[in-house]
Amino acid sequence: MNNNALPRGIKRILFSRDEISNRIKELAHQIDEDFKDAKEPIILVGVLKGSFIFLSDLSRELTIPHIIDFIAVSSYGKKKTTKSSGSVRMIMDTREDQQNRDVLIVEDILDSGYTLEYINKMFIARGTHSVKNVVLLTKEIKHEADVKLDYLGFSSPDVWAVGYGLDYRERFRTLPYIAELDIDLIHKEEN
Ligand code: IMP
Ligand code: MG
Repeated sequence: MNNNALPRGIKRILFSRDEISNRIKELAHQIDEDFKDAKEPIILVGVLKGSFIFLSDLSRELTIPHIIDFIAVSSYGKKKTTKSSGSVRMIMDTREDQQNRDVLIVEDILDSGYTLEYINKMFIARGTHSVKNVVLLTKEIKHEADVKLDYLGFSSPDVWAVGYGLDYRERFRTLPYIAELDIDLIHKEEN
C-alpha cells in the first residue's frame, strides 16, 4: 500500500497482512511440532484485548488439539498511555483448570516485559505442566523485566504499534496490518 493512502494517524506499515499470515503459519508449524506428544490438549491463553486477532488466526493454523482461554490484565495507567507503569493488575482471570496442563500464553507485544513476566509466574504457581509463550511483536529495546520468549513473530522498532489487535486508546485495532502510529499528530490532536 502506498503511504499516501494510509488512514490519518498512521505513519507507515511495519508488517503487511501477507507477512503476518505467513509468519503465523510458520509459528503454528513450529508449535505443532513441539507439542505433538502432549498428553492433553494444550491451553492457549490469549492476553486481552490486544491478542484476540493473533490468537484467532494462530489457533486456526494449529493442527494439534488445543483449547482456548483468555486473561485480561492492565499495566498502563489511564493518563500515560504509552508508558508502562510497571505494575500489573488482573482484570479477568482464566476459566480452564491449568493443573498439570501445557499452557501457551498468547501475547500481542512485549515492551517492558512486566505483563508477560507477571502472567508467566502466576501460571507456574498454579501447578501447570509447562508454561510457554508466543509473542507477535517485541520491541527492539532492553526489556526491563526478566522474560524469555519461546516463539516470536517479529521484532519491531521502538515505536507505538497499532493494528491487527493492537490499539492506541481503543483506536486502530482492526487495521489488517501492523503499523506505526503517528504519535506526534495524535498528541497534537488530543491537545
Ligand atoms: P509491557 O508490560 O510493557 O511489556 O507491555 C505490554 C502491554 O502493553 C502489551 O500487552 C500491550 O497491550 C501494551 N503495549 C505495549 N506497547 C504497545 C504498542 O506499541 N502498541 C500497542 N500496545 C502496546
Ligand atoms: Mg497486551
